[in-house]
Amino acid sequence: MNTSPSRLVEYGAVIDSNVMVRPPDVTELELEPGHPGEHDVEYVERRKALFALTRRHRLEGLGPPLVAYTPEETRIWRAVSPQLDALHRKYACSMYLAAKDELAITQTEIPQLRTLSARLERETNMHLVPAEGALPYRTFYEYIANRGFPVTQFIRHGSHPEFTPEPDMIHDCLGHVPPLMNPDYAELLTLIGKAAATTPHGDQVLALKRFSWFSIEFGLIEERSETKVFGAGILSSTGEIPHSLFSKDATRRPFVTDTVIATDYDPSQMQKDFFIAPSFTFLRRELEALVRRFGIPVL
Ligand SMILES: [Fe+2]
Repeated sequence: MNTSPSRLVEYGAVIDSNVMVRPPDVTELELEPGHPGEHDVEYVERRKALFALTRRHRLEGLGPPLVAYTPEETRIWRAVSPQLDALHRKYACSMYLAAKDELAITQTEIPQLRTLSARLERETNMHLVPAEGALPYRTFYEYIANRGFPVTQFIRHGSHPEFTPEPDMIHDCLGHVPPLMNPDYAELLTLIGKAAATTPHGDQVLALKRFSWFSIEFGLIEERSETKVFGAGILSSTGEIPHSLFSKDATRRPFVTDTVIATDYDPSQMQKDFFIAPSFTFLRRELEALVRRFGIPVL
């Protein structure tokens, strides 16, 4: 089994070697072979219960359910979040750190998505959609286009707290949620959703996915002459944070849109290409220009 912590991948659709794969609408919990929890009966039952609960809330538009987390789930949160927080304080961008504090995401209690969603709604008119697992890409983008970010409500298996083969609450709450407090970031994300959900052209969806991958998931940003982290896939991995900033096995280049949308990526490995954006406003403008160039009628 690949236990690289970098397999904290994007949420939603999957791109495999430039071929677009549309995950079907999965109606029951499926753990991939080799999943750390696949033989743990209690874990599988818990995941099935959360799958059914969050799927129903999503399909019925009820918003995130309040979840009573178990002592084991809280233990895992308390094992992972302080390690990440120590790295965040040193290497995350200032916008992320301020948002994490404003959202009162602590290292001791698993946050309730319902509370986070209400706060986001007041701040940037974004909200959280409970997601039972990976969604078909168009469904995922349609939620984003409507200012809803699909977020999981389950926690990884406790045998490997630093690793999950699928995005879980630690990835989503400590990676994706805090930046949604920033207006430019919120508009950037919403526009990715609108454009990807609207265009019928696969090559344009692929370009938008790469733009998203190298910003929303694995983006770096320039801040007072320093390179800082804001991508969710980096922020939720104790391995990717130092790797993205310091590894000799990775390149760090300025964010040039034409280069970014021509660069492939492999979600199953530690990333080897990183792009540094000068600001969130820059990213938003670059995306608007790309969407205009593609002729997607969403602006
Ligand atoms: Fe993600």
